[in-house]
Amino acid sequence: CGIVGYLGHRDAYPIIIEGLKRLEYRGYDSAGIALFDGTNLNISKTKGKVTDLENCVENQISKKGNLGIGHTRWATHGVPNDVNSHPHTSNSGDLVIIHNGIIENYDSLKKELISRGYTFKSDTDTEVLINLIEDVKNKENVKLGKAVQIALNQVVGAYAIAVFDKTKPDEIIIARLGSPLAVGIGENEFFIASDASPFIEYTKNAIYLEDEEMAILRKGKDIRIRKIKDDSSVDPYVQELQLNLEQIEKGGFDHFMLKEIYEQPKAINDTYRGRLLREDAIIKMAGVEDNMKKFLNANRFIIVACGTSWHAGLVAEYIFEDLARIPVEVEYASEFRYRNPIITEKDVVIAISQSGETADTLAAIKLAKSKGAFVFGVCNVVGSSIARETDAGAYTHAGPEIGVASTKAFTTQITVLTLIALRLARAKGTISSSDFRHYLLELEMIPKKVEKALKADAHIKEIAYIYKDVSNFLYLGRGYNFPVALEGALKLKEISYIHAEGYPAAEMKHGPIALIDENMPIVVIATKTGHYDKVVSNIQEIKSRKGKIIGIVTEGDVTVRELADHVIEVPDTLESLTPLLTTIPLQLLSYYIAVMLGKNVDQPRNLAKSVTVE
Ligand code: G6P
Repeated sequence: CGIVGYLGHRDAYPIIIEGLKRLEYRGYDSAGIALFDGTNLNISKTKGKVTDLENCVENQISKKGNLGIGHTRWATHGVPNDVNSHPHTSNSGDLVIIHNGIIENYDSLKKELISRGYTFKSDTDTEVLINLIEDVKNKENVKLGKAVQIALNQVVGAYAIAVFDKTKPDEIIIARLGSPLAVGIGENEFFIASDASPFIEYTKNAIYLEDEEMAILRKGKDIRIRKIKDDSSVDPYVQELQLNLEQIEKGGFDHFMLKEIYEQPKAINDTYRGRLLREDAIIKMAGVEDNMKKFLNANRFIIVACGTSWHAGLVAEYIFEDLARIPVEVEYASEFRYRNPIITEKDVVIAISQSGETADTLAAIKLAKSKGAFVFGVCNVVGSSIARETDAGAYTHAGPEIGVASTKAFTTQITVLTLIALRLARAKGTISSSDFRHYLLELEMIPKKVEKALKADAHIKEIAYIYKDVSNFLYLGRGYNFPVALEGALKLKEISYIHAEGYPAAEMKHGPIALIDENMPIVVIATKTGHYDKVVSNIQEIKSRKGKIIGIVTEGDVTVRELADHVIEVPDTLESLTPLLTTIPLQLLSYYIAVMLGKNVDQPRNLAKSVTVE
C-alpha cells in the first residue's frame, strides 16, 4: 500500500492526490482520503484507482483543508471494496488512520475490543488498530502520541501508519515497523509518504523513519522522533534528496513499462559506469573491495530474492559458478526464511531486490545476519530498507522503476552481479587476464547491442498480434537462458494474464511436451553460443508436434530460421552475457500482447510493485 499525508499551510488535497498517483505502484485495489477543513472531517474512499477517488471526492466532499491523509491499497485483510478502503475512523469518529502492513494479532485484539463495546464497519485489521488506539487514549487518559505508542506495543505485525485526531488538528502521529515511511520537511509544513516521490517538488529535505520509530509532527514545531518500545528520543537525521520529477514521469512513452524497456541501454551503462574501467583492465566496486576477504573465504553464496529478482539470482548462479568457481544456491526468500536453513559464518548471502522493501527478502536477511553470515545487498532504491539492513552492497543505478512488471531492474541486476563475478574471478585467478579483458570489452558493448535488439520492436508487435488470443504459452531456454525463459513467462503472465510456463528446454520432454499442439506458441531461446545444437533438437521435437515456434536467435542464424514460424534476432555476444539481450524481445512481446488485449500494463490486477507484507 501507499500512504501520503500533509500538515501545513497549503491545500492538502492536490498534494495527496498527486502523491497517491505516484505511489500507485505500491497497490491500486482501492483508494481513500481524509481531509480536515477546520471544522469537519471529510472522508471519501472507493474501490478502484486514484482517478476513481477523484471522481468520488468531486461528488461527495469538500476539498478544503490544510490537514489530510490518503491511501492507495493492496488488499491483505478484507476484499477491496469501499468499506475496507482506508482511511478508517475510530468509534468516536475523532481519530483517523491510514495503514500499510498487516496486524497479525488483529483477531484477538478485535475480540477484546468487541467485548468492551466497540463495533466495526469493515473487515480490516486497520480499523482494529485505530479503535485500540482510542481505547488506550481513553482508558489511560493520555495524549494521542502516547496512546499510539502504547497500542503499537500490543501489536504483532508490520506497519507504516499516520494518525490524527480531528479535535487536535495541528498534529499527525506516524510510526513505522517493516513498511517504509518518509517525512518531507518544509517551512512550517510536513509531508508524509511511503517514499519521497510525492513531495519532491516541495522539499528536498527528508527524514526516513527507521523500524520501531514513531514521530510526532506538530504544526510550527520541529519533528520529534521516539522509539516505540522504550519511548527514548532519537535525533532526526535529515537527508537531501537526489530524485527529480522528470525521472518519475513517462517522458513521451505510452506506458512506464515501455519507457523502462527503452531505458535499458542507459540503465546498464549507468550500472557499470565508474566500476568497469576497461583501459586499466579493472573492476572497482567499493562494497566488494572492502569485503574481499569475506567473499574469497566463503564456502558458498546463498542468493535470496523474490519474483524477477529471483530470476536475476538464477542467472547469477550460472555466472558465479562458471567464472568464479564459487558454489551458489538460489532461494526464494519466502521459503528460505521458514525452513530452518543451514547458514554459517562462512556463507555470503546476496539479497537482490529492486525496491529494497520486499518483506520476505528483508526477513531472510535478518535471519542470515542472526546466524552470522555476511549479507550483501543488490538494490535499486537508494536508502531502502534492504540497502540499510545489509552489511554492504552495490546499487543497480537503474533509476526509478514504476511499471509493476520489472524490466530494467532485471537487466541491471544481472549487470551488477556479472561485475561482481568477474571481480571475484580475477581475485581468485579463475579467469585469465586476457579473458577478463575480453569480458570487459564485451560488457561495454552491451548497451549498444540492447539498442539493436530494441530495433525488432515492430516485428515483435506483428508476432504479438498473431498470438494475442491464445490461452497458453511455453518458454524454453537452456543454461544461462533458462532463467530468461522463466522471466519471459512471468512477464507475460503478469501483464496479459495469459498462462505461461518457463522450462529448461531439455526438460520439455518430461512433461510440457504433452501440452504441445498446433495452437501452442513456444518461445525458444536459441542463441549461437550456449548448447545451440541441443536447442535445435528441442525445436525439432516441437515441430514434429506442430507447435508454433518463436525463436530468439543470434543475428544471421540460418538453421532455426528454417524450422521456426518466427525468429527474432539479437546481436552476438559471450554466452554468459546473452541474458542481457535475449530478455529484451521477451519484454516487448509481453508488453505488446498486453496492450493489444487492453490490459493495464503498468498496474496489472492483483499485483503490487513493492510487496511490504509477507
Ligand atoms: C513484486 C513485483 C515483482 C518483483 C517482486 C520482488 O512481486 O511485482 O515485479 O520482482 O515483487 O520485488 P523486489 O523489489 O524485491 O525486487
